[in-house]
Amino acid sequence: MSENNPNEEIEVEENSKFSRRTFLKFFMGISAVLTVVPFAPMIQFFFTKKEDTSSAVQKIANIKDVPPGTTHVFFYPGEEDKHRSFLIHLTEEEVAMAEAEGKAEYITDGFVAYNTICTHLQCPTELPEHEEVVCPCHGAGFSKFDASVLYGPPPRALPIVTIEVDQSSGEVLATGMIGKIGAGRET
Ligand code: FES
Repeated sequence: MSENNPNEEIEVEENSKFSRRTFLKFFMGISAVLTVVPFAPMIQFFFTKKEDTSSAVQKIANIKDVPPGTTHVFFYPGEEDKHRSFLIHLTEEEVAMAEAEGKAEYITDGFVAYNTICTHLQCPTELPEHEEVVCPCHGAGFSKFDASVLYGPPPRALPIVTIEVDQSSGEVLATGMIGKIGAGRET
């Protein structure tokens, strides 16, 4: 019959306390991670510095490269697909038509520019034809003159790129954006 060694018992007890403590710490760590994970997007939303590109000035073309009746594709305010935009040089007849329809607000020296990503479900719109810019995905049409919705499901106009035309140098500059790129109504 073997006698119990008190030192061994103490050691066993210490080991078991240690492993219980380790397990509890591990368990609490996992719980903390699992609690935070669902809120990660919210945390990111509050702590990520938002890109402020609403007033970035960018040269987008020269007048001589975009004669009346043509469209120049450019990217603004960044280089991603969602930044694809049209700079349209309207003919005199089109400017007159836009004025008659009350849609000349964003036309500067015959030029108008806007983002081309549909505000319905973000399909890229096609090059303008006649007085329309068409989104082929669900059959929507936007006005070529002010990007307002003519028909179809989009809830709002395409975002306007505000422009300045420097007649001495011939440069056309993008100076900002009215409206947000993407789908849905603006808040
Ligand atoms: S994505 Fe343009 S109409 Fe639906």
